[in-house]
Amino acid sequence: MKFLVIGDVVGRTGRLALQNNLSKIKDQFKIDFTIVNGENSAGGYGITGKIYEEMMNWGVDAVTLGNHAWKKDEIIPYMESNPNHNIIRPLNFPEGSPGQGFKIFTHLNGKRILVCQVHGETFIDLPLDNPFQSIDTKILSIINDHDIDYSFLEVHAEVTSEKNGIAQHYDGKFTAIYGTHVHIPTMDARILEKGTAYQTDAGMCGDYDSVIGMEKTEPIRRFVEKTPGGRFNPAQGDPTLCGVIVETSSDGLSESIEPFRVGGILSQTKKQ
Ligand SMILES: [Fe+2]
Ligand SMILES: [Fe+2]
Repeated sequence: MKFLVIGDVVGRTGRLALQNNLSKIKDQFKIDFTIVNGENSAGGYGITGKIYEEMMNWGVDAVTLGNHAWKKDEIIPYMESNPNHNIIRPLNFPEGSPGQGFKIFTHLNGKRILVCQVHGETFIDLPLDNPFQSIDTKILSIINDHDIDYSFLEVHAEVTSEKNGIAQHYDGKFTAIYGTHVHIPTMDARILEKGTAYQTDAGMCGDYDSVIGMEKTEPIRRFVEKTPGGRFNPAQGDPTLCGVIVETSSDGLSESIEPFRVGGILSQTKKQ
């Protein structure tokens, strides 16, 4: 099977990248299943039920979150009143947090797909359980006991070392492990020793003529002057869609992983 994994969608520009390109990409590369990170999709902070539903209508199958999960807190009652939603938040959020840390999907072809997300701890100011313990206690037994054909672990984390450490530790246990959150794609896509596909960060969907998706004036001013100021707004230039395409192998691991960048000012990987 072929999976498309798309990094953090930032604001309207990121949503446009998705809306304008997703169905073409799915047709062109015969994508079977699409995972998108939506934590920045509503004005750069959080997600709403309306935006989630738009993404599903554009052909997304699963939407992941991150540290900005609840910035638009209307998403919490939305999830409660739509219990079959396909939104996945970090599984190591504290016990009792709203939402779900993983979901099992059954594809039309009968294959069972597990999608889960874990949050890294380094340089993250959030109450979090240990990501390794959360994966060990909440995910590994499910992969073994529930007849899962393909499993995807998203590591939403600040530092490359923590993402690398998690990926190397769980190599061979997941079809793919990939990072989100830093909004810049890394160029280390590869199949790890035991067959798990990996890229440290999938990159963002949005305008790269920015500071990680935000209009650049205010972030630069804050770096230079070191004082608080106005709010950050998503940049509104040319949208780039950024992610990876993973092709699985029959043993539940991966045959290949390829970065994907289309539109906007980044160097392009796949011409449309
Ligand atoms: Fe993000
Ligand atoms: Fe994030």
